[in-house]
Amino acid sequence: MITIIGSGKVGGDAALFSALKKLDDQILLLDVAKGLPQGEAMDINHMLSEQGIDVEVKGSNDYEDIRGSNIVVVVAGSARKPGMTRMDLLKINASIVKSVTENIKKYADDSMIIPVSNPLDPMAYITQKVSGFDRSRVFGMGGMLDLSRFRQFIHESTGHSRDSIRGLVIGEHGENMLPLPRFSSVSGIPLSSFLPKEKLDEIVVNTKQVAAKVIELKGATVHAPGNAISAIIETVVRDRKQVIPVATYLDGEYGHSDVTIGVPAVIGKNGVEKIIELDLNDEERTMFDKGVANVKDALSGIQI
Ligand code: LAC
Repeated sequence: MITIIGSGKVGGDAALFSALKKLDDQILLLDVAKGLPQGEAMDINHMLSEQGIDVEVKGSNDYEDIRGSNIVVVVAGSARKPGMTRMDLLKINASIVKSVTENIKKYADDSMIIPVSNPLDPMAYITQKVSGFDRSRVFGMGGMLDLSRFRQFIHESTGHSRDSIRGLVIGEHGENMLPLPRFSSVSGIPLSSFLPKEKLDEIVVNTKQVAAKVIELKGATVHAPGNAISAIIETVVRDRKQVIPVATYLDGEYGHSDVTIGVPAVIGKNGVEKIIELDLNDEERTMFDKGVANVKDALSGIQI
């Protein structure tokens, strides 16, 4: 069973995409708000009935119901409002994510956890520490979402099919995000063959800033995060062993330990099966390390 804790717009979208992709026979939406998960589940089930898809979506306010979950997505907490950074949510969401994780440990202690709540990297670290799960079983969704935006900008700039575009974004899911043009391509052909450095630099900046723009325009980001969550779930449940960026706990990789941040990893039925260390150049390494320092600094003020 796939459980999604937090049944707001993103949680609901993640359930919808996961159901449409038939990623499990059962999907549970959980929330503290009475009626919200139940109503969201009903609405999705009505859609599934028209599609003829026999995935059962349930809604609950009771953690007992998460028993038997293989994957638990944590979207619970506040979302940022126009003008806020993800890090502005640190204090309020840290206590929520800690409490949620304690319940996951109590009712679904053999599950894999996909943190989504922001600020993602500190929240994934709290999830790792509070759950005490092997680090392979905690991987946050951040870079996968940044990657979708990075690919969109490459698509817009080159005019080539989205299907031909491969990109990579690692580091902090935040102000120090690290889109990597050097590790991105159009059908394996380096981006630099298609776009001048100035344009690549512009795409990097736009990738970092576009979420705030969407929030300014429509009040929240919904479909891109919802889809990215389902894409990570898919590579787990189908054991695809895709190489994707996830926020996971480092133990010496990239020269860092005791921190959780976005790195490329092989994701399959066992969760994080291998962390891939890229040969970053000085500029890339500086930005990556800046993200690590920002995450560690944020956590220094949090009681876990
Ligand atoms: C975003 C939020 C999910 O980037 O961090 O849309």
